[in-house]
Amino acid sequence: MKGLVLASLLAAVSSLVPTADYTYEQFVEDFHKEISPRAQSLFSQRLSEALSFNANPNRSYTKGINQFSDQEAPPRGRKASRVTSDLKLASTYKRTVEIEELPKEVDWRTAGVVTPVKNQGQCGSCWAFATTATVESHIALETGLLFSLSPQQLVACAPNTDHCGGIGGCMGSIPEVAYDYLIGAGGYAEEWSFPYISYTGATNGTCPASEDLQVKAGIGGYVKLEENNAADVMVALATVGPLAVNVDASNWHNYESGVYDGCEYDAMDIDHVVVLVGYGTDEDTGLDYWLVRNSWSPTFGEAGYIRLLREAPEDTKCGVDTTPQDGTGCDGASTQYPCGQCGVVFDVSYPTGAFLA
Ligand SMILES: *[C@@H]1O[C@H](CO)[C@@H](O)[C@H](O)[C@H]1NC(C)=O
Ligand SMILES: *[C@@H]1O[C@H](CO)[C@@H](O)[C@H](O)[C@H]1NC(C)=O
Repeated sequence: MKGLVLASLLAAVSSLVPTADYTYEQFVEDFHKEISPRAQSLFSQRLSEALSFNANPNRSYTKGINQFSDQEAPPRGRKASRVTSDLKLASTYKRTVEIEELPKEVDWRTAGVVTPVKNQGQCGSCWAFATTATVESHIALETGLLFSLSPQQLVACAPNTDHCGGIGGCMGSIPEVAYDYLIGAGGYAEEWSFPYISYTGATNGTCPASEDLQVKAGIGGYVKLEENNAADVMVALATVGPLAVNVDASNWHNYESGVYDGCEYDAMDIDHVVVLVGYGTDEDTGLDYWLVRNSWSPTFGEAGYIRLLREAPEDTKCGVDTTPQDGTGCDGASTQYPCGQCGVVFDVSYPTGAFLA
């Protein structure tokens, strides 16, 4: 009995593949929404978009209905690409093995080094969530202990003086800026001691004095991979651990399941930060994918994850992002050429020297 009750509660809040008779009233009930004409009209557009998209048998992924189906676009929080020549503490990456020697499939979740998916809410703090998830995994890989660390600390405390990917806090930033801060600050507080309060986007929170931070773990440095080197990304992912990546998530909002190939190469807009936690080949379609952890709660996509089409390194397509200054970019950013589906191999990094305080 308990099991049944739980199952129906879960069904009420997770995403779904709509049928033609799915109504706005049902949506309002399923997702605990407030009724409004604007929301209803957006919902209708999203519903017919999903129905017609899913009717095509050639598609590699499925569109669904979720918490974003009556909204303009979910919050992201990474407005532009950084001019990378001025990275302060980055080291470069040298791959240790060749592609041919890698396993066919990698999923760091099965190694017990990945925390449950979190939810950034309406705050443009994707950069803080992606950095936190990546650091959590590297601390676990280094020490065997998987902590849930505080994205709020980054939102409240990490300055973004060069305006990289936004102006900081809920207004966007990038992992490299967050690593710089963490190295200087001595590390991270745990989630429980510095909980997330920026969910609505109405506040960045307040940064406590450093002696009041209960630091649990930290990092000693970070590595930034060579831009657009897909082979390096695969090898680092398989041999080092999860990686923070900057992507174009402009059209991810109604992704439900499958291997996503919906990013346009000729009009990329790098605007979001997520975590690569593996790669593999889809059994149904035979398509290769990157396994990506998002920060839009487990009700997005495949239990909070999205799989992006993975091209062979030598066949990786590139696009053009003409709006790195949309938002504010690192001051001085110019047109960039991100490669891979949604730019997934463009700006990739991971922390080093993870330690327990
Ligand atoms: C599906 O793909 C095949 C082969 O590429 C093509 O001939 C066909 O028109 C496609 N069907 C649809 C509905 O797009
Ligand atoms: C959050 O911080 C950014 C950067 O300092 C600032 O522009 C923004 O107004 C802050 N947001 C709030 C709600 O205070």
